[in-house]
Amino acid sequence: MSIYKELKGKVAVITGAGRKAGLGEAMAKRLAQEGCKIVITDIGYADSKHAPDTAVGTSAEMQQIVDEIVAAGGEATSVVCNVLKDEDVAGAVSFAVETYGKLDIWINNAGVGFLMKPILEMDVSEWDTVLGVNLRGTFLGIKYAAQQMVKQGHGGKIINIGSQASKSAFAHASAYTTSKHGMNGLTRVAAQELGPNKINVNEICPNHVTTGLGAWQNEHFSQVSGKGYDKYMQDMRDRIPLGRPGEQEDIAKACAFLCSDQAIYITGECMNVSGGEEYH
Ligand SMILES: NC(=O)c1ccc[n+]([C@@H]2O[C@H](COP(=O)([O-])OP(=O)(O)OC[C@H]3O[C@@H](n4cnc5c(N)ncnc54)[C@H](O)[C@@H]3O)[C@@H](O)[C@H]2O)c1
Repeated sequence: MSIYKELKGKVAVITGAGRKAGLGEAMAKRLAQEGCKIVITDIGYADSKHAPDTAVGTSAEMQQIVDEIVAAGGEATSVVCNVLKDEDVAGAVSFAVETYGKLDIWINNAGVGFLMKPILEMDVSEWDTVLGVNLRGTFLGIKYAAQQMVKQGHGGKIINIGSQASKSAFAHASAYTTSKHGMNGLTRVAAQELGPNKINVNEICPNHVTTGLGAWQNEHFSQVSGKGYDKYMQDMRDRIPLGRPGEQEDIAKACAFLCSDQAIYITGECMNVSGGEEYH
Protein backbone atom coordinates (compact mmCIF):
# COMPACT_ATOMS: atom_id res chain seq x y z
CA MET A 1 0.00 0.00 0.00
CA SER A 2 1.32 3.43 -0.94
CA ILE A 3 1.26 6.15 1.71
CA TYR A 4 3.71 8.67 0.30
CA LYS A 5 2.51 9.43 -3.24
CA GLU A 6 5.55 11.60 -3.97
CA LEU A 7 7.79 8.50 -3.84
CA LYS A 8 6.25 7.10 -7.03
CA GLY A 9 8.91 6.87 -9.74
CA LYS A 10 11.82 7.69 -7.42
CA VAL A 11 14.93 5.58 -8.00
CA ALA A 12 16.34 3.94 -4.87
CA VAL A 13 19.57 1.98 -4.47
CA ILE A 14 20.05 -0.17 -1.36
CA THR A 15 23.40 -1.71 -0.44
CA GLY A 16 23.66 -5.08 1.29
CA ALA A 17 20.04 -5.79 0.35
CA GLY A 18 20.56 -9.28 -1.05
CA ARG A 19 19.81 -11.37 2.01
CA LYS A 20 16.39 -12.87 2.53
CA ALA A 21 14.92 -11.62 5.82
CA GLY A 22 17.49 -8.84 6.07
CA LEU A 23 16.57 -5.21 6.70
CA GLY A 24 17.61 -4.33 3.14
CA GLU A 25 15.01 -6.68 1.68
CA ALA A 26 12.28 -5.13 3.85
CA MET A 27 13.24 -1.55 2.92
CA ALA A 28 13.39 -2.50 -0.76
CA LYS A 29 9.92 -4.05 -0.67
CA ARG A 30 8.44 -1.14 1.30
CA LEU A 31 9.86 1.45 -1.12
CA ALA A 32 8.70 -0.67 -4.07
CA GLN A 33 5.17 -0.58 -2.60
CA GLU A 34 5.49 3.21 -2.61
CA GLY A 35 6.22 3.05 -6.35
CA CYS A 36 10.00 3.47 -6.21
CA LYS A 37 12.19 1.77 -8.80
CA ILE A 38 14.56 -0.38 -6.80
CA VAL A 39 18.18 -1.37 -7.37
CA ILE A 40 19.13 -4.21 -5.04
CA THR A 41 22.87 -4.39 -4.50
CA ASP A 42 25.02 -6.74 -2.46
CA ILE A 43 28.43 -8.34 -2.53
CA GLY A 44 26.94 -11.41 -4.24
CA TYR A 45 29.47 -13.96 -3.03
CA ALA A 46 31.55 -14.88 0.05
CA ASP A 47 34.57 -12.62 -0.29
CA SER A 48 36.96 -13.58 2.48
CA LYS A 49 37.45 -15.71 5.55
CA HIS A 50 35.56 -13.04 7.47
CA ALA A 51 32.44 -13.35 5.32
CA PRO A 52 31.02 -16.86 5.56
CA ASP A 53 28.44 -17.87 2.94
CA THR A 54 25.69 -17.70 5.53
CA ALA A 55 26.36 -14.00 6.21
CA VAL A 56 26.39 -12.83 2.62
CA GLY A 57 23.71 -11.84 0.14
CA THR A 58 24.36 -14.01 -2.91
CA SER A 59 23.51 -13.16 -6.50
CA ALA A 60 20.82 -15.86 -6.40
CA GLU A 61 19.20 -14.30 -3.32
CA MET A 62 19.42 -10.83 -4.88
CA GLN A 63 17.59 -12.15 -7.94
CA GLN A 64 14.99 -13.83 -5.73
CA ILE A 65 14.21 -10.53 -4.00
CA VAL A 66 13.99 -8.76 -7.37
CA ASP A 67 11.62 -11.46 -8.64
CA GLU A 68 9.41 -11.11 -5.56
CA ILE A 69 9.20 -7.32 -5.97
CA VAL A 70 8.32 -7.67 -9.66
CA ALA A 71 5.76 -10.41 -8.91
CA ALA A 72 4.09 -8.02 -6.45
CA GLY A 73 3.78 -5.42 -9.21
CA GLY A 74 6.91 -3.40 -8.45
CA GLU A 75 9.94 -2.47 -10.49
CA ALA A 76 13.40 -3.73 -9.50
CA THR A 77 16.73 -4.91 -10.73
CA SER A 78 20.03 -5.85 -9.10
CA VAL A 79 23.75 -5.35 -9.46
CA VAL A 80 26.72 -6.69 -7.54
CA CYS A 81 28.38 -4.01 -5.40
CA ASN A 82 31.12 -4.66 -2.88
CA VAL A 83 30.99 -1.48 -0.80
CA LEU A 84 34.68 -1.82 -0.02
CA LYS A 85 35.48 -1.19 -3.67
CA ASP A 86 35.47 2.37 -4.91
CA GLU A 87 34.72 1.29 -8.49
CA ASP A 88 31.81 -0.97 -7.42
CA VAL A 89 30.07 1.83 -5.53
CA ALA A 90 30.61 4.32 -8.36
CA GLY A 91 29.46 1.54 -10.73
CA ALA A 92 26.22 0.99 -8.80
CA VAL A 93 25.39 4.69 -9.12
CA SER A 94 26.07 4.55 -12.88
CA PHE A 95 24.01 1.36 -13.19
CA ALA A 96 21.01 3.00 -11.52
CA VAL A 97 21.27 6.04 -13.79
CA GLU A 98 21.72 3.94 -16.94
CA THR A 99 18.81 1.67 -15.99
CA TYR A 100 16.30 4.14 -14.58
CA GLY A 101 17.62 7.54 -15.69
CA LYS A 102 18.43 9.09 -12.30
CA LEU A 103 19.16 8.50 -8.62
CA ASP A 104 16.90 9.85 -5.86
CA ILE A 105 17.50 7.65 -2.81
CA TRP A 106 20.61 5.85 -1.60
CA ILE A 107 20.53 3.57 1.43
CA ASN A 108 23.79 2.50 3.06
CA ASN A 109 22.59 -0.75 4.62
CA ALA A 110 25.52 -3.14 4.05
CA GLY A 111 27.04 -4.11 7.36
CA VAL A 112 29.16 -6.69 9.10
CA GLY A 113 28.03 -7.60 12.60
CA PHE A 114 29.07 -11.20 12.97
CA LEU A 115 32.62 -10.51 14.17
CA MET A 116 31.97 -10.26 17.90
CA LYS A 117 34.95 -10.79 20.19
CA PRO A 118 36.53 -9.21 23.26
CA ILE A 119 39.20 -6.64 22.35
CA LEU A 120 41.84 -8.90 23.91
CA GLU A 121 41.06 -11.59 21.32
CA MET A 122 40.20 -9.54 18.27
CA ASP A 123 42.51 -9.65 15.32
CA VAL A 124 43.22 -6.36 13.56
CA SER A 125 42.11 -7.83 10.23
CA GLU A 126 38.69 -8.51 11.81
CA TRP A 127 38.59 -4.92 13.05
CA ASP A 128 39.44 -3.71 9.54
CA THR A 129 36.68 -5.83 7.98
CA VAL A 130 33.99 -4.37 10.24
CA LEU A 131 35.23 -0.78 10.01
CA GLY A 132 35.71 -1.18 6.28
CA VAL A 133 32.23 -2.36 5.38
CA ASN A 134 30.31 -0.36 7.98
CA LEU A 135 32.13 2.97 7.78
CA ARG A 136 34.31 3.15 4.66
CA GLY A 137 31.47 1.59 2.66
CA THR A 138 29.05 4.20 3.99
CA PHE A 139 31.49 7.00 3.15
CA LEU A 140 31.82 5.73 -0.42
CA GLY A 141 28.07 5.38 -0.76
CA ILE A 142 27.48 8.95 0.42
CA LYS A 143 30.24 10.29 -1.80
CA TYR A 144 29.17 8.74 -5.09
CA ALA A 145 25.43 8.98 -4.53
CA ALA A 146 25.73 12.64 -3.55
CA GLN A 147 27.93 13.45 -6.54
CA GLN A 148 25.16 12.17 -8.80
CA MET A 149 22.41 13.93 -6.84
CA VAL A 150 24.30 17.24 -6.92
CA LYS A 151 24.78 16.84 -10.68
CA GLN A 152 21.05 16.22 -11.16
CA GLY A 153 20.26 19.34 -9.16
CA HIS A 154 16.97 18.26 -7.57
CA GLY A 155 18.14 17.02 -4.18
CA GLY A 156 17.86 13.52 -2.79
CA LYS A 157 17.74 11.32 0.28
CA ILE A 158 20.56 9.36 1.82
CA ILE A 159 19.80 6.96 4.67
CA ASN A 160 22.50 5.25 6.69
CA ILE A 161 21.58 2.17 8.68
CA GLY A 162 23.18 2.50 12.08
CA SER A 163 22.29 0.56 15.18
CA GLN A 164 21.61 0.82 18.88
CA ALA A 165 25.39 0.44 18.90
CA SER A 166 25.50 3.91 17.28
CA LYS A 167 24.50 5.26 20.69
CA SER A 168 25.45 2.70 23.36
CA ALA A 169 28.39 0.43 24.07
CA PHE A 170 28.19 -3.34 23.76
CA ALA A 171 30.90 -5.61 25.11
CA HIS A 172 32.42 -7.89 22.44
CA ALA A 173 31.40 -5.39 19.78
CA SER A 174 34.27 -2.91 19.80
CA ALA A 175 34.60 -2.69 16.03
CA TYR A 176 30.85 -2.76 15.38
CA THR A 177 30.12 -0.13 18.07
CA THR A 178 32.97 2.07 16.89
CA SER A 179 31.85 1.86 13.28
CA LYS A 180 28.25 2.74 14.12
CA HIS A 181 29.26 5.58 16.47
CA GLY A 182 31.45 6.84 13.62
CA MET A 183 28.45 6.69 11.33
CA ASN A 184 26.71 9.31 13.52
CA GLY A 185 29.52 11.76 12.85
CA LEU A 186 29.59 10.95 9.16
CA THR A 187 25.80 11.38 8.92
CA ARG A 188 25.94 14.79 10.58
CA VAL A 189 28.86 16.09 8.53
CA ALA A 190 27.26 14.85 5.30
CA ALA A 191 24.00 16.55 6.30
CA GLN A 192 25.87 19.83 6.80
CA GLU A 193 27.78 19.62 3.55
CA LEU A 194 24.89 18.42 1.38
CA GLY A 195 22.03 20.44 2.91
CA PRO A 196 22.59 23.34 0.49
CA ASN A 197 21.99 20.85 -2.34
CA LYS A 198 18.68 19.76 -0.76
CA ILE A 199 20.06 16.33 0.04
CA ASN A 200 18.79 15.01 3.37
CA VAL A 201 21.17 12.64 5.14
CA ASN A 202 19.77 10.67 8.08
CA GLU A 203 20.56 7.53 10.03
CA ILE A 204 18.19 4.89 11.37
CA CYS A 205 19.33 3.22 14.60
CA PRO A 206 17.47 -0.07 15.09
CA ASN A 207 17.70 -2.11 18.26
CA HIS A 208 17.74 -5.89 17.86
CA VAL A 209 15.78 -7.22 14.97
CA THR A 210 15.56 -10.97 15.21
CA THR A 211 16.41 -11.54 11.55
CA GLY A 212 19.52 -10.84 9.51
CA LEU A 213 22.66 -10.18 11.45
CA GLY A 214 20.58 -9.57 14.58
CA ALA A 215 19.68 -13.28 14.60
CA TRP A 216 23.36 -14.17 14.58
CA GLN A 217 24.04 -11.69 17.40
CA ASN A 218 21.19 -13.05 19.52
CA GLU A 219 22.57 -16.58 19.20
CA HIS A 220 26.06 -15.36 20.01
CA PHE A 221 25.19 -13.22 23.03
CA SER A 222 22.77 -15.76 24.49
CA GLN A 223 25.67 -18.24 24.55
CA VAL A 224 28.23 -15.71 25.83
CA SER A 225 25.89 -14.61 28.62
CA GLY A 226 25.27 -18.22 29.63
CA LYS A 227 21.52 -17.51 29.74
CA GLY A 228 20.49 -19.69 26.86
CA TYR A 229 18.43 -18.39 23.93
CA ASP A 230 14.95 -18.37 25.50
CA LYS A 231 15.98 -16.54 28.68
CA TYR A 232 18.11 -14.10 26.69
CA MET A 233 15.18 -13.23 24.41
CA GLN A 234 12.74 -12.95 27.35
CA ASP A 235 15.12 -10.52 29.10
CA MET A 236 15.25 -8.51 25.88
CA ARG A 237 11.47 -8.31 25.68
CA ASP A 238 11.29 -7.33 29.38
CA ARG A 239 13.65 -4.37 29.00
CA ILE A 240 12.05 -2.96 25.83
CA PRO A 241 9.16 -0.63 26.78
CA LEU A 242 7.09 -1.73 23.78
CA GLY A 243 7.66 -5.35 24.82
CA ARG A 244 9.24 -6.87 21.72
CA PRO A 245 12.38 -6.70 19.62
CA GLY A 246 12.29 -4.84 16.32
CA GLU A 247 10.89 -6.29 13.14
CA GLN A 248 12.11 -5.76 9.59
CA GLU A 249 8.95 -3.77 8.84
CA ASP A 250 9.59 -1.33 11.70
CA ILE A 251 12.81 -0.26 10.01
CA ALA A 252 11.23 -0.27 6.56
CA LYS A 253 8.44 2.07 7.73
CA ALA A 254 10.94 4.50 9.26
CA CYS A 255 12.95 4.38 6.05
CA ALA A 256 9.93 5.18 3.86
CA PHE A 257 9.04 8.08 6.16
CA LEU A 258 12.57 9.54 6.01
CA CYS A 259 12.52 9.23 2.20
CA SER A 260 9.16 11.01 1.99
CA ASP A 261 8.30 14.71 1.86
CA GLN A 262 6.95 14.35 5.41
CA ALA A 263 10.59 14.31 6.53
CA ILE A 264 11.69 17.18 4.29
CA TYR A 265 13.01 19.26 7.23
CA ILE A 266 14.77 16.37 8.96
CA THR A 267 18.48 15.98 8.26
CA GLY A 268 21.57 14.96 10.23
CA GLU A 269 19.29 12.96 12.52
CA CYS A 270 20.31 9.61 14.03
CA MET A 271 16.84 8.27 14.73
CA ASN A 272 16.23 5.44 17.19
CA VAL A 273 13.75 2.80 16.07
CA SER A 274 13.99 0.73 19.19
CA GLY A 275 10.63 0.36 20.91
CA GLY A 276 11.87 2.79 23.56
CA GLU A 277 14.98 0.79 24.44
CA GLU A 278 17.34 3.59 23.38
CA TYR A 279 16.77 7.23 24.31
CA HIS A 280 19.67 9.43 23.29
N1 LIG B 1 19.31 -7.12 12.42
C1 LIG B 1 19.54 -6.31 13.45
O1 LIG B 1 19.21 -6.61 14.58
C2 LIG B 1 20.22 -4.98 13.24
C3 LIG B 1 20.18 -4.09 14.30
C4 LIG B 1 20.78 -2.86 14.15
C5 LIG B 1 21.40 -2.54 12.97
N2 LIG B 1 21.43 -3.43 11.95
C6 LIG B 1 22.11 -3.01 10.71
O2 LIG B 1 21.26 -3.27 9.62
C7 LIG B 1 22.04 -3.47 8.45
C8 LIG B 1 21.55 -4.71 7.74
O3 LIG B 1 21.76 -5.84 8.58
P1 LIG B 1 20.77 -7.09 8.65
O4 LIG B 1 20.49 -7.35 10.06
O5 LIG B 1 19.67 -6.93 7.71
O6 LIG B 1 21.75 -8.28 8.24
P2 LIG B 1 22.11 -8.89 6.82
O7 LIG B 1 23.23 -9.81 7.08
O8 LIG B 1 20.89 -9.41 6.20
O9 LIG B 1 22.61 -7.64 5.98
C9 LIG B 1 23.93 -7.26 5.85
C10 LIG B 1 24.29 -7.32 4.39
O10 LIG B 1 25.55 -6.67 4.19
C11 LIG B 1 26.15 -7.35 3.12
N3 LIG B 1 27.58 -7.09 3.04
C12 LIG B 1 28.56 -7.52 3.86
N4 LIG B 1 29.76 -7.12 3.39
C13 LIG B 1 29.51 -6.42 2.25
C14 LIG B 1 30.31 -5.75 1.30
N5 LIG B 1 31.65 -5.72 1.43
N6 LIG B 1 29.73 -5.15 0.24
C15 LIG B 1 28.37 -5.19 0.11
N7 LIG B 1 27.55 -5.81 0.96
C16 LIG B 1 28.11 -6.41 2.03
C17 LIG B 1 25.86 -8.82 3.36
O11 LIG B 1 26.04 -9.57 2.19
C18 LIG B 1 24.42 -8.76 3.85
O12 LIG B 1 23.52 -8.93 2.79
C19 LIG B 1 23.50 -3.55 8.90
O13 LIG B 1 24.13 -2.32 8.64
C20 LIG B 1 23.37 -3.77 10.39
O14 LIG B 1 24.48 -3.28 11.11
C21 LIG B 1 20.84 -4.65 12.06
